[in-house]
Amino acid sequence: MEIKVKHGDSLKLKTPCLVVGVWEGRLRTPQLRELDRRLEGALSRATREGEFSGRQKETLLLYPGKALAAERLLLVGLGKDGRKAERNGLRQALGGVTSQLLGRRISRFSIDTASLALRRLQEAELGQILAEGVELGAYRFDAYRTEKSEDLPPALEQVQLVAAASSAARELDKGVVVARAICRGVCLARDLVNQPGNVKSPEYLARRARELAAEVGLQCSVLERAELEALGMGALLGVAQGSVREPRLIVLEYRGGRDDARPVALVGKGVVFDAGGISLKPAEKMDEMKMDMAGGAAVLGTLYAAALLKLPVNLVGVVPAVENLPSGSAIRPGDILTSLSGRTIEVLNTDAEGRLILADALTYVKRYEPRVVIDLATLTGACIVALGHHASAVLGNHDGLVRQLLKAGETCGERLWQLPLWSDYGAQLKSEVADVKNVGGRPAGTITAAAFLQKFAEDFTWAHLDIAGTAWEEKGRPSIPRGGTGVGVRLLIEYLR
Ligand code: BES
Ligand code: MN
Ligand code: ZN
Repeated sequence: MEIKVKHGDSLKLKTPCLVVGVWEGRLRTPQLRELDRRLEGALSRATREGEFSGRQKETLLLYPGKALAAERLLLVGLGKDGRKAERNGLRQALGGVTSQLLGRRISRFSIDTASLALRRLQEAELGQILAEGVELGAYRFDAYRTEKSEDLPPALEQVQLVAAASSAARELDKGVVVARAICRGVCLARDLVNQPGNVKSPEYLARRARELAAEVGLQCSVLERAELEALGMGALLGVAQGSVREPRLIVLEYRGGRDDARPVALVGKGVVFDAGGISLKPAEKMDEMKMDMAGGAAVLGTLYAAALLKLPVNLVGVVPAVENLPSGSAIRPGDILTSLSGRTIEVLNTDAEGRLILADALTYVKRYEPRVVIDLATLTGACIVALGHHASAVLGNHDGLVRQLLKAGETCGERLWQLPLWSDYGAQLKSEVADVKNVGGRPAGTITAAAFLQKFAEDFTWAHLDIAGTAWEEKGRPSIPRGGTGVGVRLLIEYLR
């Protein structure tokens, strides 16, 4: 797939389909008036009949015949200009257009960018948003479909972003270059999440990490069982012991900043399949638990994109990768594990495994003396109860960091909502026999999970993102097809930029 930027008069452009944006209630712009004139009033008729007024998600497909050089004209409603969510509205509109056109087997089209411009939005950012919408809307995971089927849309071939002037085209192109790198990170994360459990062992994730490190020049090291044992990562090893697949601790380093600049550490939960262990999950929808490594996928995708973008920062990404299965060798409820930090943990529910592996990973990143630590994890079902599928939860021990993340989420459309982390919640984790227990009971499950992690992040500026509700899309939305969403990559890149 190729996204090209060019300049010229879009009404004179030869293309299979010209896409023009229409803001709600703004149908009398000079451009739309000219279109209407050429189409002998077809646009005003459609408006009068109530078929199209520029509302969000509305589209109108016309065959302009001799009126335009384009074979088709697709008008896309953008909703009311001036709303807060307009950036995200644009991205989604483009995602929707892309999947609609692909569904009609149109794999080449052109976009009139002037009609999509927004006040307070620089051309470069517009280019980034449009290109992200197109690329993320065109994403598919069909690695395992061997039979050609009529209902499989074609792959996207070429999209042109058309600007009126060459100066605008140059700016748009800067944004497209950025979007391309970010989307490669997002699509990498989506691919990893969509891979089935039988394929993605911890070693598979490690291999993919090594490959992408070689591709873009990251340092990669992978710790295997013997090293994890020697270090004393008892919490991670405890979770791993129920599966015949060996655990891995994947470490990626990107050095784009000054030599002496302390890195930002990103830690991602990498449970390649979470059956719950001896505290077995119910059968229904258990298949979705192949997505329990989405935090790890986001970390790999972010380091990949950061390297492609040559961001001027130092990063270290850590992904504890394990499988959580019940078996004769699995940990039992009541077992006590000794974590890398030396703290002992009473495991009362083996299904609260994410916090165990993250505890050791958080302790491990201390050796990098990070400036900031951010972890991402599909950590609690309670987070879906609290926020549904429209926001990730953010909690942390530093308000400034949380505020920066909230802002990045608002800008890029990967929304966050802060939950409190008052010390009172810590009481729910008191154990009778060990330093801490791994579950805090039913009340505030997302918060007590974060309170558990906080004990292992005492030494740094830290934030935790619970992406349980946002990492997997069940139905499919514009620019987010069904399956892994790649959530976290765009957010972290926006934060880092
Ligand atoms: N991976 C799950 C959380 C999850 C649930 C993610 C649904 C995405 C969708 C996690 O390991 C888990 O099982 N958490 C338990 C914790 C409980 C035992 C305290 C949960 O949420 O039920
Ligand atoms: Mn679990
Ligand atoms: Zn889990």
